[in-house]
Amino acid sequence: MAAVTLIHGDAADYGRACDMILTDPPYEMSGAELARIIGKFDAPHLILITTMRQLLDFMPRTEWRLAFDFVIDGVMPKKSKNYMQPHYLHQTGVYLTQPGVKSAFDRRRRMRSDAFEANGYWPTIFHAPRDNVQAHGHAKNAQAVTDLLGSFNVRSVCDPFAGSGATAIAAYDLGIPCTLIERDVETFNALKVTCRFMSAYGLEIIE
Ligand SMILES: C[S@@+](CC[C@H](N)C(=O)[O-])C[C@H]1O[C@@H](n2cnc3c(N)ncnc32)[C@H](O)[C@@H]1O
Repeated sequence: MAAVTLIHGDAADYGRACDMILTDPPYEMSGAELARIIGKFDAPHLILITTMRQLLDFMPRTEWRLAFDFVIDGVMPKKSKNYMQPHYLHQTGVYLTQPGVKSAFDRRRRMRSDAFEANGYWPTIFHAPRDNVQAHGHAKNAQAVTDLLGSFNVRSVCDPFAGSGATAIAAYDLGIPCTLIERDVETFNALKVTCRFMSAYGLEIIE
């Protein structure tokens, strides 16, 4: 069964090699800072769940090539008090590869739980309501992340901005070894609780 490694610290200090980076960075992070941190990792495949603003800032600073984009539909907008911003219903997703790397995506690999056709139908909008957050804090997001990760032929995954751990839940469900890094102490403590049930299968915690 897959091993899960949780690291408390700054992702910039824990760069490692993996098949895929799958992450949802803080949206206020600049493209330059995101490029600096992602650049510490050695991976041929990258899935970013991001904003168009952050993506446009990130792309000119890296060699990553766009394979395809998708949308995560949060259904409920984020509550924002800023009158100069719309209420975002969605997150922008992109699958990127290093130059010369063949795509690891195959839409037949996994039947999407938000699409009721068992024939490899893989719509580019994920139905992932924000209000459905009981189990693991981000239940529906974890399901969307599992559908996403399960559509790629990768043997290991890293998430440098772990948050509540949707990537760990997805990787665990799929049997893919994963490393998660989280800097904030409270978030990391919650992550340890979320991942506690994985200990029987090899859970390493580095603090
Ligand atoms: C948008 S959240 C991730 C949400 C996550 N996908 C989830 O399922 O909850 C980004 C996380 O990155 C963490 N973070 C920000 N900068 C970091 C850094 N340099 N190293 C590690 N973690 C960082 C924040 O504390 C936050 O928990």
